[in-house]
Amino acid sequence: MIDLHDGHGDLSPDELRTRVAGADAVMALLTNRFDASVFDAGAPTLKIVANVAVGYDNIDIAAAHARGIIVTNTPDVLTDATADLTLGLILDIMRRLTEGDRLIRRDGWRGWAFDFMLGRDLRGKQLGIIGAGRIGRAVAARARAFGMSIAYAARDGHRTADEPDARWMSFDELLVSSDVVSLHVPLTPATRHLITQKDLVRMKRSAVLVNTTRGPVVDEAALAWALREHRIAGAALDVFEREPVVHPDLIPLENVLLVPHLGSATVETRTAMADLAARNILAVLAGQPPLTPIVPAAPRD
Ligand code: DGY
Repeated sequence: MIDLHDGHGDLSPDELRTRVAGADAVMALLTNRFDASVFDAGAPTLKIVANVAVGYDNIDIAAAHARGIIVTNTPDVLTDATADLTLGLILDIMRRLTEGDRLIRRDGWRGWAFDFMLGRDLRGKQLGIIGAGRIGRAVAARARAFGMSIAYAARDGHRTADEPDARWMSFDELLVSSDVVSLHVPLTPATRHLITQKDLVRMKRSAVLVNTTRGPVVDEAALAWALREHRIAGAALDVFEREPVVHPDLIPLENVLLVPHLGSATVETRTAMADLAARNILAVLAGQPPLTPIVPAAPRD
């Protein structure tokens, strides 16, 4: 039997526990929070939670594994859509497209002028990518076509890409030297508030910050301050600390682009994500290994 929730609006912890009780498998959305109590509610039948997202910060993986429950995500299938959106945000904030759209809609355009609404070229600028995973590298590939140079950094210094025309640098060096800083790390306890006020003031005053990963990776109040004080030139955000609530200090600012978590939101990509999650469930229920399991993180030596 299939029990369907339309995916609009969060399920409360109680509702989730009720829905999970007696299920063999659950296809989950990133707005559903799976903690130990939810897994306990699913015992003893629940075998797999298939998250329809690449990120899985909504799921307590250790609690699932401790109960022998498999968790899967949807890597690869959303890489292009998310990288496309990231480039869209970079182009928009560098060329002030949405700012111009707002100006026209409030009847503020007084005509063409030589020095009117000047943006910044992408060519010759350094794109600093924090987190050189699949999406970070796909963003780099697109940015190269616009003439940007690529710098990678990982907070833990662990190199994940070896591309001859990309420079690896420390987190600090990337922050101070990049014209665009784009975040592509997953949300974990180590990356929560990875970008603080201290980091923002180290960036170039002409630089922009782009976040398409998870809101809590950036201290949103500190970002609003840095934008208001013009300590950085701009930001483009697809994700927020307390979605769907956006920090009220960001709303009046012209130098920030706010997009409602659309990274993977295309018909083709969402279809592929749902399909992959379904195939993970079918595999596990048939006694086969899952296609894209979350494995416990191995210690790095
Ligand atoms: C993901 O898959 O983690 C994305 O945020 C969904 O759009």
